[in-house]
Amino acid sequence: MPKIVKKTKETEAQKKDSIPKSKILKDVSRALGTKDLLANDFENLETIKKDLSSFFKRYGFVQLETPVMEKAEMFKNNFRRDVGKELYEITSDKGEKLALRSELTQGIIRSFIDHNLNETMPLPVRLFSIGPVFRQEKLQSSRYRQFTQVNAEILGEAKPVAEAFLIYTMFSLCQDWGLDIEVQINSLGKNECQKEYRDKLISYYKGRGNRSKICNECKKNLNKDPMALLDCTEKECLSLAEGAPQIVDFLDEDSREYFSKLVEYLDELGVKYNFNSRLVRGLNYYNDTVFEFWPLSDNGQPQYKYALGGGGRYDNLVEKISGQEISGVGMALGLERMVYKLKDKNLILFPQPENLIFLAQLSEKAKLRSMQIFEELRKEGFNVRNSFVANSLKKQLEEAKQLQTRICLILGKKELTDDTILLRDMDSGVQEIIPQKKLIKELQKKLN
Ligand code: HAM
Repeated sequence: MPKIVKKTKETEAQKKDSIPKSKILKDVSRALGTKDLLANDFENLETIKKDLSSFFKRYGFVQLETPVMEKAEMFKNNFRRDVGKELYEITSDKGEKLALRSELTQGIIRSFIDHNLNETMPLPVRLFSIGPVFRQEKLQSSRYRQFTQVNAEILGEAKPVAEAFLIYTMFSLCQDWGLDIEVQINSLGKNECQKEYRDKLISYYKGRGNRSKICNECKKNLNKDPMALLDCTEKECLSLAEGAPQIVDFLDEDSREYFSKLVEYLDELGVKYNFNSRLVRGLNYYNDTVFEFWPLSDNGQPQYKYALGGGGRYDNLVEKISGQEISGVGMALGLERMVYKLKDKNLILFPQPENLIFLAQLSEKAKLRSMQIFEELRKEGFNVRNSFVANSLKKQLEEAKQLQTRICLILGKKELTDDTILLRDMDSGVQEIIPQKKLIKELQKKLN
């Protein structure tokens, strides 16, 4: 007869062990703008990382991983947005002012210089890196505060062939994956062109009552970085940007020639692009080429809010970080957005393992024996799944079906006594009894 314990009265021992209510976490929800990756979402992201990694290696890029934390000063100098708000800053016990990286590019450059790669590797050096990035951004759809980027950077090449190569690789990748994109390109010209352009933009936004129409963020940015206003997605700011002066009218001869060369390359390579004179990108370190990859909606409209990636030339950034004059160009792809787009288009990301076998068991003793059989099969290289807890055959067969297994092995009381196992072909439903000794051979025969 089982002992009945009244629920209402806590025993002295229970009272001692239980955690006081005041100590239980009140809020166990995730931090804003972050997400957990469970099961398929995790697999999808891992698959895309692996695919991109082998893709970039094939194009001659060398992989590196830099720390998630870097000196905050680096990011504060080279970022357009209000970094004070966007950067997650930390002070270490040694008083170092650190930040969670808001992009990979600058860490890659820092590491390139730290390890003298410009002296030990033939220029141009192609590097790529994959990892999490943190930005304390305004919360909105498809903008996370922690997300994953893959970056490809080419250091030590001053000619437009480098950006043509990058744009072409991403274009080819999207073609391989069946993703429809439109490449947006623009030129921001050399620093001198940008200086003149900025002054013109300030006058435009301050003139004809325009200032009162722009959002508060843009008001703050106007004097320090007027090009940031062209990047704002607030309704009023978007419509004002329509009538704003265009950078193309401020390009000098060299910048024009540079851009024409790039366009020539893209035409030759068959890349579909759109010349977008308002594309300035969200970062302050670019010169000459900038580009973005916009996915197309089902009715063929480019979706600027969901750019899958972007990049450009940053000839002055390496010098700003290290004092060394080395030109650079690169791009970053947002992996969460890519996974979303691939899923949305029903494009298969991670293939289920082929020839999956499900091992079902029907008693306490069978559970133990099935664990041993599982090990034997795994060691032989079979892809096996099982359920240690389920007792009902119906449930286990449903799971086997869901996993699209080819074969289900069933171990019940009778099979345990006979040292046999039931082998069920999931497509035909045909079942046969196999001696356990012969199981491996039988499976090899069936799955080959
Ligand atoms: P970015 O345009 O800031 O460029 O980011 C690149 C990509 O990261 C975007 O196109 C988007 O797919 C993804 N992304 C950006 N912010 C978010 C977010 N909050 N949530 C989800 N995905 C996001 C850069 O980061 C530059 N470092 C690119 C570069 C590399 N330029 C030269 N080299």
